[in-house]
Amino acid sequence: MNLRIASYEEYQEKYQHSVNDPEEFWSDIAQTFLWKEPWTNTLNWNFTEPKITWFDGGKLNITENLLDRHLETRGDQVAFFWEPNEMDADGKTITYRELHAEVCKLSNAMRGLGVEKGDRVCIYMPMILESIVAILACARIGAVHSIVFAGFSSNALADRINDAQAKLVITSDGLNRGNKKVDIKTMVDEALLSCPSIEHSIVVNCTHSNPEMKSGRDVWYNEIMEGQPTTCEAETMDAEDLLFILYTSGSTGKPKGVVHTCGGYMVYTSYSFQNVFQHEQGDVFWCTADIGWITGHSYIVYGPLLAGATSVIFEGIPTYPDAGRFWQICEKYKVNQFYTAPTAIRSLMGHGLEVVNKYDLSALKVIGSVGEPINEEAWQWYFDHIGKKNCPVVDTWWQTETGGIMLSGLGNLSPMRATHAGYPLPGIQPVLLDGDGNEIHESEQEGYLCIKFPWPSILRTTYGDHERCKNVYFSNYDNYYFTGDGAKRDANGMYRIIGRVDDVINVSGHRFGTAEIEDAINTNKYAIESAVVGFPHDIKGQGIYAYVVVDPSKMDDQDTIIASVMDSVSKGIGKIAKPDKIQLVSGLPKTRSGKIMRRILRKIAEGEKSNFGDTSTLLDPDLVIEIVENSI
Ligand code: WTA
Repeated sequence: MNLRIASYEEYQEKYQHSVNDPEEFWSDIAQTFLWKEPWTNTLNWNFTEPKITWFDGGKLNITENLLDRHLETRGDQVAFFWEPNEMDADGKTITYRELHAEVCKLSNAMRGLGVEKGDRVCIYMPMILESIVAILACARIGAVHSIVFAGFSSNALADRINDAQAKLVITSDGLNRGNKKVDIKTMVDEALLSCPSIEHSIVVNCTHSNPEMKSGRDVWYNEIMEGQPTTCEAETMDAEDLLFILYTSGSTGKPKGVVHTCGGYMVYTSYSFQNVFQHEQGDVFWCTADIGWITGHSYIVYGPLLAGATSVIFEGIPTYPDAGRFWQICEKYKVNQFYTAPTAIRSLMGHGLEVVNKYDLSALKVIGSVGEPINEEAWQWYFDHIGKKNCPVVDTWWQTETGGIMLSGLGNLSPMRATHAGYPLPGIQPVLLDGDGNEIHESEQEGYLCIKFPWPSILRTTYGDHERCKNVYFSNYDNYYFTGDGAKRDANGMYRIIGRVDDVINVSGHRFGTAEIEDAINTNKYAIESAVVGFPHDIKGQGIYAYVVVDPSKMDDQDTIIASVMDSVSKGIGKIAKPDKIQLVSGLPKTRSGKIMRRILRKIAEGEKSNFGDTSTLLDPDLVIEIVENSI
């Protein structure tokens, strides 16, 4: 069960082994898990269809691996310390044994509602222990969870429920976020007006807001749990049965449902967790992500529990009641490994060192970063003031689609270089390609980051639309998985991620497709057309700049129009996608063939006034002058 590499030399050996004989390498690791039946075929793959299977024929249930198998050895060990939003409120702890019992109770309750293996269940919940129980109960009975971040709007929620044809939604009355209470049940109620596949909703009483309960559909969590047996037979799953769907944004169209399966995802999240964080028994781990994102799935829930770790889960936000909250929690639980996003680091940096130095951070051993490139200044501040120059920064590059961390240092084992994610984990074979699809072998060249061999937690498909999976990830370059990121490799083979090379923007570590935001804007009654681009933002990494075409005769009431456009984005996607800047324009710069010249719009958003490169194909150059003059 201990899968931890102990030295850099061992990493190099393991890496070589994983490249020379991937099947043997992963098979050895997979054998340390609990299987109901062994697999017959370790790996089958082609990147053309694409079709990838790992441990095919193997039977298992992931919850037996992360709960049942720990009961004898660490049943009374804390699985989670739950830290509430209010600093002076009582937290909760749950041991492995208690978590097992709760998961079994909810599993029984869900079966009682008619949820069966293969059914989809949508989870729209706050950062509370019941959310963990809900996720694991799905996995226990073989239902496929689709967690939707509880900051998405009712429209976005409805789209995801409908795409997955979910049968059940698990939610709460409301959630606590800093000094705000957000009523999320109302969002669900609105969404369900257009979700005929939903039969029931289970509602956790979190904020005691006394919502209306629709009879026959809505049931209270605590009522349905009452009297349920604390054991529940785990469904037998094939290694390649679906474990979950997670919607994520791409360059075009609506967010797509990335599919992960039981066996490979289990093996890879556990392996990567133990190695990247160099997690040892007895350590306390804290990942500050939300369960609605892949980081929450893999490194709050699955990775740590599979490894039998003790984790912190936090309901609130880093700046409430003040900007010392993260560090106070680190002190309180003597956190050993801390994992957060650059955007949080940058926003906390601005609050000075007093709120940091008040707290004892001496238990920290490894500090991690995820979700977006970390700039030099933030890296250095994190290293100096949080890690006290004693803790390695593991800058972990990965994606919803990769399921687990792909490039990163391994705790204090690997060499480290600021702003560089570092080396590939064992089993990961990255390459940089030039525009023609040739592998770049020289150092310090920028290229398209691709992966040339499958690893156990690679996405298998996009739900309900395999063609889309093929087109987005496997068609740009034959026989490579295309990540959508640009990267460089230094002379020592360390990777540095430059950022997305497609129309995906990364705002505070949250992924949005520009097309998705444009679609939301275009529903607005004033908007004739729009174009959205990212621009560099000191705290968020990237901000959202929207150019919205409106009828020139309506331009005098700009404030009303802008407020209305903001509202359309909040309704269409959620407040998290609201543009930082909205510029009303009379038209968009287009080529003679009608294509929007985003390159120019990006430059203007970056503050460029005149140097736009080749503009010979522009239909109306005067328009560019107008946009520059009024740019924000
Ligand atoms: C970006 C989050 C630089 C990248 C786990 C990727 C990063 C996208 C890093 C995936 C990092 C993630 N350095 N960029 N350490 N980690 N990214 O699916 O552009 O929400 O393609 O997964 O975030 O975002 P996602």
